[in-house]
Amino acid sequence: MLILIPGVTGNLGQHLCRAALQQGHQVRGLGRSPDKLDPALKSQLESWVDTTGIEDAASYDRACAGVDAIIVAWPAYARFVVDGQILLLRAAERAGVKRFHAASWNLDWEHLPLHEIETYDAMIFFADHALMTSPIKLCHTFTGVLGKTLFGVPGAGILEGNSAFWVREGSVADNRRTIKVIGSGDVELNFTPEADAAEFTVALMASEYAEKGGYFRFCSDSFTPLQLGEAYKRVYPDAEVLIEKVMELDECEAVMRQTRKEAREAGQLQERLIEYLGLAYGYYIASGKLNINPVDADKFPGCKRTSVEEYIRGNDYV
Ligand SMILES: NC(=O)c1ccc[n+]([C@@H]2O[C@H](COP(=O)([O-])OP(=O)(O)OC[C@H]3O[C@@H](n4cnc5c(N)ncnc54)[C@H](OP(=O)(O)O)[C@@H]3O)[C@@H](O)[C@H]2O)c1
Repeated sequence: MLILIPGVTGNLGQHLCRAALQQGHQVRGLGRSPDKLDPALKSQLESWVDTTGIEDAASYDRACAGVDAIIVAWPAYARFVVDGQILLLRAAERAGVKRFHAASWNLDWEHLPLHEIETYDAMIFFADHALMTSPIKLCHTFTGVLGKTLFGVPGAGILEGNSAFWVREGSVADNRRTIKVIGSGDVELNFTPEADAAEFTVALMASEYAEKGGYFRFCSDSFTPLQLGEAYKRVYPDAEVLIEKVMELDECEAVMRQTRKEAREAGQLQERLIEYLGLAYGYYIASGKLNINPVDADKFPGCKRTSVEEYIRGNDYV
């Protein structure tokens, strides 16, 4: 099948491209900068469609012509998730595409009320709008936290800087790590390396489930912050892992709500987004309230589910 991947040059996009090629599909890329794509992947594309930016609807018509499925790998900002995806969805409808995986791979927001996590508000708006207006039944996948995001790789998600969860102290060789814990540290979080999320998503979009749409739940591993520290010590017995309690869970919730309220009242929702969003992700990850039961993993037993210990072993940047 021919799969269009908008955002193919991004963190998850490149994994989706690799997984699609490995599963025997053709891939069409859509983006502004093809040279950001791994050359080994670029050389295997069916074609590349240039876009000038998120409002470039004409590029979406060119990109959708003749494709069987679309997997959107744009980042989770509202301009992409709402404005961009609505233009792309209409182009997909004009082209007769029936399989559309929306940008997601999140904590489980299906039943989350609005104004709790703003990035998820945009996804909820888009999902509901499509439900009300489009013949295409969207697919979304919930995975918990992705690999590079959990381990604070710069640019790979919200868990860096003041909101960091995993902190590398000194050089990698020093092997000192700090896990910043909100609350007790004994609540599980769901974890999925990008490669596993991509493999599952491609298998899903090539399956009988894709045209029916829905919310799919897949993760590779689940563990508490304390168990994560133990896994790191099993891989690196000489390492030092500190558990630093940042604040209580109810304190985090109170600060998150107060920060958002102040930002809203001051008309600074955009300017202070990272501040209250960091707290919101911290609160919801630590509370486990948006955890998934990975019930859809059984539909695709061939898809790899990497344990966090295996991930630590295979990724030096951890
Ligand atoms: N659960 C988690 O922990 C987690 C963490 C991060 C992300 N995610 C999810 O993963 C998905 C993909 O995120 P990502 O972090 O992989 O994305 P990303 O790497 O930040 O970006 C993907 C691509 O978007 C394109 N892009 C950026 N600005 C653009 C613009 N102004 N106009 C057009 N295209 C633009 C870029 O392609 P070009 O430069 O080629 O145009 C970029 O390669 C999102 O749906 C997000 O929800 C989940």
